[in-house]
Amino acid sequence: MPGAIYAEGLVKNFGDVRALDGVDLDVPEGTVLGLLGPNGAGKTTTVRVLTTLLTPDQGKASVAGIDVLRHPNEVRRRIGLSGQFAAVDEYLTGRENLQMVGQLYQLKAKDARRRADELLERFNLADAADRTAKTYSGGMRRRLDLAAALVVSPPVMFMDEPTTGLDPRNRQALWEVIQELVAGGTTLLLTTQYLEEADHLADDICVVDHGRVIARGTSDQLKAQTGGERVEVVVRERERIGTAEELLRAHAVDGGEVAVEQHTRRLTVPVAGGAKLLAEVIRDLDGRGIEIDDIGLRRPTLDDVFISLTGHAAEEDTADGDDEDGGQSENSENSENSKKKAGAAAKAGKK
Ligand SMILES: Nc1ncnc2c1ncn2[C@@H]1O[C@H](COP(=O)(O)OP(=O)(O)O)[C@@H](O)[C@H]1O
Ligand SMILES: [Mg+2]
Repeated sequence: MPGAIYAEGLVKNFGDVRALDGVDLDVPEGTVLGLLGPNGAGKTTTVRVLTTLLTPDQGKASVAGIDVLRHPNEVRRRIGLSGQFAAVDEYLTGRENLQMVGQLYQLKAKDARRRADELLERFNLADAADRTAKTYSGGMRRRLDLAAALVVSPPVMFMDEPTTGLDPRNRQALWEVIQELVAGGTTLLLTTQYLEEADHLADDICVVDHGRVIARGTSDQLKAQTGGERVEVVVRERERIGTAEELLRAHAVDGGEVAVEQHTRRLTVPVAGGAKLLAEVIRDLDGRGIEIDDIGLRRPTLDDVFISLTGHAAEEDTADGDDEDGGQSENSENSENSKKKAGAAAKAGKK
């Protein structure tokens, strides 16, 4: 029985560019899937196919058990989507925009008003609630778009990089709303470039790169797959590095090597056994009279996972056409202003 979101062998070409190269997904009902990948990986294309906005060249997909290609209208009735500014009407105020969405979904006027107020408050738009959306900055529009997607809770929700460019406070607010949404039974597919976000929100993670899912699993599974924990020791005296190395070798997991960095006096060894093993290592070092400046147990982060899978960091190439909605515009009062700032920054950068 396929999950609430299901895709098999999705392929999509744009001219010579193969945006999707055989994407498979299966998201159980009521869970959150994090689609994690760098710019150009194929995240948005996947979301557009699943939300009926784009027809794939090959493959099949269903959402809420309904075939996306055969019954797009049925699918649309059961999903929410944010990230396209689709829902925002420039000429309405923030409040009117949200109330209108509520009415579209047949909430009672009173309930639509209450939900609008609640969301305006949560996304820090209350002060701007009665201004038309066209006066909003990129960051404010982004928040209004998110709020619009959250007026009602559809069975299946898609969010394309919802927190890109949001400041920490608004990111936190969104995370909370997302958690409530999922607690209410909604299935969510969320794309992100932020490992921390996938780690925090997603039940399962699919790492995509070059149009393919290159790894999948829970955050913990992915981390375990990358290699387990390591003990890192910085010894005080250079002369003791050799002894420390020998001692650590005895604690290495099968086939594990001790890595030694002479100039920092840091030794790293892959281990299994967690805090208990760390305590043993400390006792051993102490028993041999080796003084240490630092010691710790390091577990792989999702960053380590990503680098080991793709050969590059996830967040390194963020330069993208839509910086308008990025961090810069978050704190400015209107988009005109932020364009000027961006222009000035670009000029300053050229000097
Ligand atoms: N409409 C389009 N026309 C041409 N190329 C596109 C189009 N949409 C996406 N692409 C290309 O497809 C690839 C995947 O893009 P996208 O799905 O937007 O990636 P992501 O959302 O992960 O950044 C990229 O190489 C992108 O340039
Ligand atoms: Mg994208």
